[in-house]
Amino acid sequence: QYYTETYRPQFHFSPEANWMNDPNGMVYFEGEYHLFYQYHPNGTTWGPMHWGHAISTDLVHWEHLPIALKPDEHGMIFSGSAVVDWNDTSGFFNGQSGLVAMFTHADTYPGSERPRQRQSIAYSKDNGRTWVTYEGNPVISDESITDFRDPKVFWHKETKKWVMILASGQTVRLYTSKNLKEWEFASEFGDGHGSHEGVWECPDLFELPVDGYSNQKKWVLFLSIGDDPSFEEGSRTQYFIGEFNGETFTNDHKPETTLWIDKGRDNYAGVSWSDIPNEDGRRIYLGWMSNWRYANITPTKEWRSAMTIPRVLTLKTMKEGVRLVQQPVQELQKIREKSIHIMNQTIVPSENIISNVKGNTLEIIVEFEFGTAAEFGLKVCKSNLEETVIGYDVTQQRLFIDRTNSGKSDFNESFVGKHEGELSPYDNNKVKLHLFVDWSSVEAFGNNGELVLTDLIFPDQNSKDLELYAVGGNVKVNTLEIHMLKSIWR
Ligand code: FRU
Repeated sequence: QYYTETYRPQFHFSPEANWMNDPNGMVYFEGEYHLFYQYHPNGTTWGPMHWGHAISTDLVHWEHLPIALKPDEHGMIFSGSAVVDWNDTSGFFNGQSGLVAMFTHADTYPGSERPRQRQSIAYSKDNGRTWVTYEGNPVISDESITDFRDPKVFWHKETKKWVMILASGQTVRLYTSKNLKEWEFASEFGDGHGSHEGVWECPDLFELPVDGYSNQKKWVLFLSIGDDPSFEEGSRTQYFIGEFNGETFTNDHKPETTLWIDKGRDNYAGVSWSDIPNEDGRRIYLGWMSNWRYANITPTKEWRSAMTIPRVLTLKTMKEGVRLVQQPVQELQKIREKSIHIMNQTIVPSENIISNVKGNTLEIIVEFEFGTAAEFGLKVCKSNLEETVIGYDVTQQRLFIDRTNSGKSDFNESFVGKHEGELSPYDNNKVKLHLFVDWSSVEAFGNNGELVLTDLIFPDQNSKDLELYAVGGNVKVNTLEIHMLKSIWR
């Protein structure tokens, strides 16, 4: 009966029980991917924050481990990161290597209600199994700033220093250090840049080659934006592309340019794994698959929230400039069970060629070639009563997920809706979709990850029908693969 509760994701990470939000402390060390996460062990809504912990050797199957960090005399444990201190710069490891985590300690100012957020560190000598909080905590505090949190640390090899990026009100601050204990303020970025439609949270900063050329690199800055009731999208994540010299980030774009990592509603607080080996070379991240607008009231009982699938990040030059591309990690191919392949079929409005295929843990890869249809796509998690539509609007050149009639939605009035983003066809008339459907989510990658939409859905467990559809004419399916996916928990 393990992991079979209503809406329980079958191949996405979710906690065994209780509340989870942001991914934290993601680091790869000695063959293990660590995933820590914001965790409330005593309830299914947000509460006193701990760091939950899980490990994986393949980014697909996860083993739950005991809580790593719990509230102490400095307060709750908010979001943060972890790194491998390879050369024992911290002195915690007797000349060996070990893990150092940096996170926000959150409490209130003595004698007041005003939140206080300070940065602290902890270290582990046993591959993350147990942690010692540093006796000199907190290591950074600035009493003038209320929202001051979510440190993400990385080693900057050119300047031979640790760099930490921290959300600070509606900007980010950068600090540098030689030993992870003493930090020096370096610069601030963000005033007037990008979206300020909410408080800034959970930054990340990393370098990526452009179009795969290692001699042509750019820095990418991830930045999540908290829920502000005046904007319909709720919480979401933006990114910047630019230069970084070890101290200062410079935006390549005009300040008013805003770029979003995902055009669905449920991908938040995502940051990347630290210390992926050079011979692997990937920059891998995942996000929290929810939205602060309704995260606390989604209709699950035993646990609340899941992570997105892990995704590989790259940069690609497109007609509007260099943009972020996301692709599912290839390791997920391991859970493909039964597969169906179809080629060269014309889809017409009156006929559903996959009416005999059923499932609700699916990976679907399809290449469409335009015909006369104005819109086409797939309907998933379908029954006579409900369906989730992943469609392409040919005239608008837009990919969308429509969850208006996807299942349970009465817990929040802004849950129903259609979410969309621009996606230009390639070869003038082709569009490729790569979909992951789980018991309560859909992730849609358009044209090899140039556009991504991530949405929660809460369909009935028996809504397992699928449909390939076309509206107002026909469309050609050049290739179609449907893979039934195995649960990662059984
Ligand atoms: C983002 C966030 C972080 C904070 C954490 C608290 O979702 O608000 O800024 O550290 O969640 O749980």
